[in-house]
Amino acid sequence: MARETTVREPAVQLDKDERQTAAVGLADVAVRFRTKNRDVTALERVSLDVAPGEFVAIVGPSGCGKSTLLKLVAGLLKPSAGDVRLAGEQVRGPRHDIGYVFQRAALLEWRSARRNILLQAEMRRMPGTTARRRVDELIAMTGLGGFEDAYPHELSGGMQQRVALCRALLHEPPVLLMDEPFGALDALTREQMNVELNRIWRETGTTVLLVTHSISEACYLADRVVVMSPRPGTITEIIEVGLPAERNYTDTMGRPEFREATSHIRHLLGAASAAD
Ligand SMILES: Nc1ncnc2c1ncn2[C@@H]1O[C@H](COP(=O)(O)OP(=O)(O)OP(=O)(O)O)[C@@H](O)[C@H]1O
Ligand SMILES: [Mg+2]
Repeated sequence: MARETTVREPAVQLDKDERQTAAVGLADVAVRFRTKNRDVTALERVSLDVAPGEFVAIVGPSGCGKSTLLKLVAGLLKPSAGDVRLAGEQVRGPRHDIGYVFQRAALLEWRSARRNILLQAEMRRMPGTTARRRVDELIAMTGLGGFEDAYPHELSGGMQQRVALCRALLHEPPVLLMDEPFGALDALTREQMNVELNRIWRETGTTVLLVTHSISEACYLADRVVVMSPRPGTITEIIEVGLPAERNYTDTMGRPEFREATSHIRHLLGAASAAD
């Protein structure tokens, strides 16, 4: 496929005008939760612009506000300060033009793989023929062929995550949010899913925000990796990985850019937990 061989320009910091058209823009965002027993500042002074088609990974200690950040972008949470934009437009409520993949696949047990994916179309009242054609494409793209009619309990963990990914991509969202989508998978399946996600990202041109606890997963997949501090979560540093978009797994692991990025991030996170 021609698009697969497209070489992307390395991601760069956006200037002021480009920021207006950033796929995702967070400006000086803070989130404070007030509950009966405590006040928690989950995020503070978070500013981040993600270019259209860019892949950004977010790493940081547990509780530093990574999921909170994704929820802001999806419009499921309002910031206590600052503003959040999608394609330049302020996010004011739940957004239907994004795809969201959670840590657990969250499939409906009584629906087949195909009908779990089609759920997205039913919720959006997409025309049946368009939706079915798109499901076929996604099933082929994610290697689920032959398992369309299997129920979740008949699928492996990796296959279930693929179904969840198809469901998130069905409506061709310009922005895909993924919250530790491969955390529950074994190492080999996770590797395989990483390779597939890299290919799917190149083929679809979707902007991706991926939260992960794996430094190597972040560096293998992303253009840039956002490293966050312990709570209240702030951005410690944004690392430009500097690898071509098309990444062979084994070659990438051995490349100096990859090793430099992973060891730098490890150092930053190690320093963060030492200071905790
Ligand atoms: N709805 C809520 N009400 C109150 N506090 C909340 C709420 N959601 C999150 N928090 C608090 O905000 C902080 C950040 O939570 P968040 O889930 O974003 O962390 P995280 O970085 O995703 O952690 P993990 O890596 O463990 O998933 C935590 O201290 C959490 O207790
Ligand atoms: Mg989380």
